[in-house]
Amino acid sequence: MAILDKHKILETNATLLLVCSFLVVTIGGIVQIAPLFWLENTIEDVEGMRPYTPLELAGREIYIREGCYVCHSQMIRPMRDEVERYGHYSLAAESKYDHPFQWGSKRTGPDLARVGGRYSDDWHVDHLRDPQAVVPESVMPKYGFLENAKIDGKYIGDLMSTQALLGVPYTEEMVINAQADFAAQADPDSDYDGLLERYGEDSVVVRNFDGQSYLTEADALIAYLQMLGTLVDFSTFTPVASR
Ligand code: HEC
Repeated sequence: MAILDKHKILETNATLLLVCSFLVVTIGGIVQIAPLFWLENTIEDVEGMRPYTPLELAGREIYIREGCYVCHSQMIRPMRDEVERYGHYSLAAESKYDHPFQWGSKRTGPDLARVGGRYSDDWHVDHLRDPQAVVPESVMPKYGFLENAKIDGKYIGDLMSTQALLGVPYTEEMVINAQADFAAQADPDSDYDGLLERYGEDSVVVRNFDGQSYLTEADALIAYLQMLGTLVDFSTFTPVASR
């Protein structure tokens, strides 16, 4: 009975109960949070992941600016219907260079985490210009103005420096060459060896994404869309837990 009596003291004294609850929550919190400070990395490393190229990063900024995340998620959950429709479920490592991440919370349109390579560049140009011309029942707004908005990547190096502050492993060399790499990725006639050397030969696609002779926001956005979900090779990937 003694323990019940003692508990009654706690139950009938609001201040004491508050103080003790606070203590319990604090201890629980420390036990959960403190180990994270001594772990080098809380995300399992996965082969193939690399930071965005300057052009892709610019495309991602446009994606955020235009609020594409309001209608599109980038997070395939490990459920059968999702995996059958969209492909392998999303790994934490696949958004480790995303600041802020684009998981989203609503799907008015389909998930885009693995849309890269699913359609041609021309398809994206047509679809962005007039979604209803491609999918008649679509409620997606028209983004044709992007193909008329010229860009030069003047500030992309600054953006990369900011991302580096947040932990994205952009090197000084990448930042210095940012604007040149930016233009090179959308111009197959340019000297893009440096770009491939810095970001990876196998995973960087150099193409004239919007088919116009000058660089536009559509180039950047399509470069970004076309690489989404393509970095990790799932024919060879096995999660650590099942190795
Ligand atoms: C109002 C909601 C809405 C917004 C905002 C929106 N979309 Fe969509 N999107 C849709 C819907 C609905 C579909 C499915 C019909 C279609 O293909 O048009 C779609 C389809 C797509 C597809 C094809 C996906 C697939 O797997 O078939 C892509 C790519 C896409 N959107 C990109 C974008 C981008 C990039 C932006 C921002 C510039 C954007 N969307 C903004 C609603 C939206």
